[in-house]
Amino acid sequence: MMSSLHADKSLFLLFLVFSQIVFILILYRHGASSLLQGFLASPQGSWDYSKTHNVYTNLSVFIPLSDEKMMTHCPLKSPILVGPITVIFAKLPSERGIVKKNPFVQSGGQYRPPHCFAHYKSAIIIPHRNRELHLRYLLYYLHPFLQRQQLHYRIYVIHQAGNGTFNRAKLLNVGVKEALKNEDWDCLIMHDVDLIPENDYNLYICDHRYPKHMSSAMDKFKYSLPYWSYFGGVSAVTPEQYLRMNGFPNTYWGWGGEDDDMFMRIQLAGMTISRTPLSLGHYKMIPHKRDKENQENKIRFTLLKKTKRTWKQDGINSLDIQLISVEEAQLYTNITVDVGGITILPPEKSKDIWTFL
Ligand SMILES: *[C@@H]1O[C@H](CO)[C@@H](O)[C@H](O)[C@H]1NC(C)=O
Ligand SMILES: *[C@@H]1O[C@H](CO)[C@@H](O)[C@H](O)[C@H]1NC(C)=O
Ligand SMILES: *[C@@H]1O[C@H](CO)[C@@H](O)[C@H](O)[C@H]1NC(C)=O
Repeated sequence: MMSSLHADKSLFLLFLVFSQIVFILILYRHGASSLLQGFLASPQGSWDYSKTHNVYTNLSVFIPLSDEKMMTHCPLKSPILVGPITVIFAKLPSERGIVKKNPFVQSGGQYRPPHCFAHYKSAIIIPHRNRELHLRYLLYYLHPFLQRQQLHYRIYVIHQAGNGTFNRAKLLNVGVKEALKNEDWDCLIMHDVDLIPENDYNLYICDHRYPKHMSSAMDKFKYSLPYWSYFGGVSAVTPEQYLRMNGFPNTYWGWGGEDDDMFMRIQLAGMTISRTPLSLGHYKMIPHKRDKENQENKIRFTLLKKTKRTWKQDGINSLDIQLISVEEAQLYTNITVDVGGITILPPEKSKDIWTFL
């Protein structure tokens, strides 16, 4: 019994490594679209992304009720959803401009619908360092996007202090812990700073059965999944699911592997993932080069091999950090943290192909 379980996990790992290698080869030689698109075709209805709407369209109908009206719960389906959203990275919006366009966002980047009681409370958690301009684009799009969905939400930016190697998963652990001090959130959304959602029917709420992967169709992967177990980009877990998987690993320094570890943890904790349909999970990535302090994590496959032995010890129950500050900016809560750790010096020249993954 035990040994067959063991064999299963090794087989899974082998498959994971194998699918990444195959993917790299395909991407390298043909571009991702050709072979994968048929294989991962969307199971649900399709959207016409050639017709898009401004993310601020009709948002001005959400204003406080006049005094004599009693506030009730928001309708289950928001009346102003439009589907595909126009996302362009032409002119960088100013912070003041974003504040002006979002008059009901309160200090710390918090919002409650002014016209009804929200059904869901979601915390958006964004690991961050040296990405101020990406953050600006994301805030410009994400605030109205979330308001369209009539959510009670708050945006947390988890800012890694110092020059050490970036540690995305550890920052996410910090974000969850701090966010749950503010509010009893229904849903925790892990959000990369450079991904913009393109369809407002892609609801920023959790699936109460399983952790949900939301960025299933990113433009950099030609709007398909890079490999079947992919869990990177944007995902949503409930606090219960998060605790059940002991949060995320603290031991992945630099780029890569931590999202595969999360996927493994979910399975080890007896769950599986749910996936936003590809037709709905469209995201645009803000074009950029990899940061110099986020080098490829070369030992990630070695770490992944150990996950089944380490996940119960390494996670939210072993989080060791120095909280430096918690500041309420107008558009987000800035949690600055020293996550400790190591500095990997950049190699002379990193292979370009890795920046795709
Ligand atoms: C905006 O609201 C108006 C009035 O309700 C409606 O006629 C129009 O279709 C809406 N626009 C979009 C893009 O949904
Ligand atoms: C970060 O690096 C810069 C330049 O390399 C250096 O001046 C600075 O002291 C470093 N900061 C920390 C906190 O190590
Ligand atoms: C967050 O706060 C720290 C400390 O005040 C500051 O250095 C950093 O620039 C802030 N980051 C963002 C994204 O606002």
